Amino acid sequence: MANKKRPKVYITRKLPDAVESRMRELFDVEINAEDKQRSREELAAAMHEVDVIVPTVGDKIDAELIEQAGPDLKLIACFSNGTDQIDVEAATRRGITVTNTPNVLTEDTADMTMALILSVPRRLAEGSRLLIDNAGQWQGWSPTWMMGHRIWGKQIGIIGMGRIGTAVARRAKAFGLSIHYHNRKRVNPATEEELNATYWESLDQMLARVDIVSVNCPSTPATFHLISARRLALLKPTSYIVNTARGDIIDEAALIQALRDGKIAGAGLDVFENAPGTNPKLVKLAAEGKVVLLPHMGSATIEGRVDMGDKVLINIRTYFDGHRPPNRVLPVRT
Ligand code: DGY
Repeated sequence: MANKKRPKVYITRKLPDAVESRMRELFDVEINAEDKQRSREELAAAMHEVDVIVPTVGDKIDAELIEQAGPDLKLIACFSNGTDQIDVEAATRRGITVTNTPNVLTEDTADMTMALILSVPRRLAEGSRLLIDNAGQWQGWSPTWMMGHRIWGKQIGIIGMGRIGTAVARRAKAFGLSIHYHNRKRVNPATEEELNATYWESLDQMLARVDIVSVNCPSTPATFHLISARRLALLKPTSYIVNTARGDIIDEAALIQALRDGKIAGAGLDVFENAPGTNPKLVKLAAEGKVVLLPHMGSATIEGRVDMGDKVLINIRTYFDGHRPPNRVLPVRT
C-alpha cells in the first residue's frame, strides 16, 4: 500500500472468519466479536476516530452522523449491496467515498425470491409447521387436503429489472411463469427476447394483470411506498406479492389490511418496514398461513457473505492504493 500507515477500520458487525482474518492482516481493525447491533453513539464515536467504517444493512448513517465524523474518515465501505441506510449525498459532500458489494449476492437473493414465490402458494411453511406441531403425525394423503395454487402457467410481474430482477426472471421462466416487468427503462432487446418478457411502462397496468408480484427494486425516495394502498387495490384477489428488496417499498400497514380483507391471496416477505422488528399483525397472518416471513435471509449463504467481504477488502485496498474503488456509489439522482 502506498500509504505506510495501516488504515484504521471499524467493522460494525461480525463478518465471516476468513474475511475478518484478512482484514486483520491488512488493516488496523476493530471488529464486533459479539455481533451486537452498534448504537448510534457507538457509530458516532467510531466515525470520529477511524479512516474507514464498514457498516452493514441495519446501520443508519445519516447526514448528522456524517457531518460529525472526524477528519480522518475517508471511506464508508458498506458490507451490503443496498446503500439506502447511508446518506450518500451527505458523504459525497464531505468528500467521503461510499462503496457497496454488488453482483455477488444476485443469485442467492434470486434463489430466495423464488423460494418465497413457491412457498406461499404451495403452503410450504404451513405444511412444515403442521408436522412440527403434531410431533410428525398427520392424517395421511388426502385428495382435498393442503391444496395450494399452481405456479406453472401464471404471470409474474417483476418491479425492478436490474441484476436481481433479471436473475428472478430467469428462474421464473424455468418454472413456467410468463415474465412481465416494470422498470425505469426497458432492458435491452436481447434480454427481453431471452426471457420473452413484456415491458410495462405503467406499473398500475402491470399490477392489474399479473398473478405474482416480485419487488426487486432498490429503496430510494422514489420507491418509498411504491406499493401503496391504491396500488394494492389494483391486484387480483388471487395474487401474491413477494418482497426481497427493502421493506419500505411496500406500505406495510396497507399490505396487512389487504391481506386481512382478502384483497390479495398472500405475501412472502424477507424484509420489513421497521426491521429488525416485525409487525405482530404480520406474524399473526403468518400463523394463519397467509404469509411467509423470513428475517432478511436473501443473501445469507456462506459463499455470498465471503464474496461480499472480498469486495469490501478490495474497495478499501484500492482506495488506500490511491485509486477509485471498483464499487463506488454515487448519490441517487431523482
Ligand atoms: C444487501 O446487501 O443490501 C442485502 O439486502 C443483504 O441481504
